[in-house]
Amino acid sequence: MKDTKILTPEKKNIEYAKDLILSGEVVGIPTETVYGLAANAFDVDAIEKIFKAKGRPQDNPLIVHICDMDMLKDITSKVSETALALGKKFWGGPLTMVLPKSDKIPRCVTAGLDTVAVRMPSHPVAIELIKACKVPIAAPSANLSGKPSPTTAKHVYNDLKGKIDCIIDGGECEVGVESTVIAVYNDSVEILRPGKITVDDLLEVVTSVKIDDGVFTKMTTDAVVSSPGMKYKHYSPNAKVVMVEGSISDFCDYVLKNADEKTGVLVFDGEESLFDKECITYGKENDSSNQASRIFDALREIDKRNLDVVYARAPKKSGVGMAVYNRLLRACGFEVKKLTKKPLIVGLTGQTGAGKSTLCDVLRQCGAAIIDCDIISREVIAQKEVLDKLKTYFGEEILNDNKTLNRKKLAERVFSEEENLIYLNSVMYPKILNKINRQIDDLTDSGYNIIILDAPTLFESGADTLCDKTISVISPVNLRAERIIKRDNLTEAEATRRINAQNDDEYYSSRSDYVIVNDKDQNNLISEAQKIFKSLSGL
Ligand code: TXA
Ligand code: MG
Repeated sequence: MKDTKILTPEKKNIEYAKDLILSGEVVGIPTETVYGLAANAFDVDAIEKIFKAKGRPQDNPLIVHICDMDMLKDITSKVSETALALGKKFWGGPLTMVLPKSDKIPRCVTAGLDTVAVRMPSHPVAIELIKACKVPIAAPSANLSGKPSPTTAKHVYNDLKGKIDCIIDGGECEVGVESTVIAVYNDSVEILRPGKITVDDLLEVVTSVKIDDGVFTKMTTDAVVSSPGMKYKHYSPNAKVVMVEGSISDFCDYVLKNADEKTGVLVFDGEESLFDKECITYGKENDSSNQASRIFDALREIDKRNLDVVYARAPKKSGVGMAVYNRLLRACGFEVKKLTKKPLIVGLTGQTGAGKSTLCDVLRQCGAAIIDCDIISREVIAQKEVLDKLKTYFGEEILNDNKTLNRKKLAERVFSEEENLIYLNSVMYPKILNKINRQIDDLTDSGYNIIILDAPTLFESGADTLCDKTISVISPVNLRAERIIKRDNLTEAEATRRINAQNDDEYYSSRSDYVIVNDKDQNNLISEAQKIFKSLSGL
């Protein structure tokens, strides 16, 4: 039995950890994702100690951590252009790539696979330690197998005390969920485990991103899976956890009906006051990164509360939310209760400066969810596939010196010739619609009854076909000009040009179920918006 020490990350302690690692021992180390249990990746006996300390199944391979691109040569047999581009963009950081292994990496590290999972962390302590060791470091998360991954040195201590010599304390992990693990193909990747690096992030480098079946569905232990780690019971507190999809009010009703004195809830910040049960929170409802940084600590907290059952609010599935959902789904053993109903999808459009943003704010305050199609379109235009197509069509002149898109130049080309606009839309719209659909699914699972699609080109893009109802906000030309001059700091001529490029009132009013003429003051607009919300809610 060892007396496990928690050490500060000062130089002498890094040296101490280095000496341990190079003499074949294992050490708890911080990374930006979760704490790792580190050993020399070339040392078979040390690797065995990792499996033993964690109680990890032998067929679950480890991640090898490097501190610079040079180290890749030692551990991989081939690194494709795509992998290099991904490394350049996302390392040091929370991305792990599965690459062909070199002969130098022992088979116990990769659990007999011909591939090795590689990651360059960004945490300064991890990097300093790997640099000092001058060997790649194999490190799984430093928890007992099956338990939530550790995001503080104390978590590691609680799981592994007596089994390892020391833990370097690098503070709370910033990301909080383990790295995104991907298999890399020719210009495409497959997500084997979601993390902080999202589908959208990856689409800036590759043209397509597949999501492995194991991310959202249960794999049996004898299944042949792309990532062995996905088939094991994971992150499980002692209490049974059930994920409940639906609005907060449906969630409250469900808990009220089904709870007894040994039932707790896992909810978002600020929802505690709604329950007279044991309550654990895991971050802000609309902030997936915040939830990621809190989820594992919250799951560990459940074990301190002597509960039989915990009902958990469901996180979003998109963006970083995919990682949070995936971890919680595993903690629940895939037990999900769906309370969701089909929401009303409402398109909202109108001329620039007519008052669409104010309207959105009011509808949000009334309880509707808003999908911002401008944000979606900015995400789509950052995708490699889209950028490649635009480059081929318009030429390099639409790029900045650093090869990113020069939006102003693109806008000039698009608004000078209609054919160019048609081409741009043909590339963008299908992808935008696809993303809108995914967000609708996400918000439906969160239990929203009304979802507003805030889309300047609602009718032009065909997004209106997704809607049950449509609202247009229009306003006299002089008022619109006044507003956009003030809002966007434009000259009168610029404002007139923008306004002339827009459709007239008739275009909007002939296509919409509700038309708001915003020609009075702000209070009038607010009260019109509230009336429409009531009508949409069937009140
Ligand atoms: O953020 C992280 O990735 C943390 C920190 C410490 O770096 N590490 C971590 O390691 O989460 P671990 O061992 O808990 O998870 C490694 C995952 C497992 O799901 C494993 O199956 C998968 O990576 N993996 C490892 N090698 C693989 C390979 N060759 N092919 C497919 N999946 C692999
Ligand atoms: Mg793990």
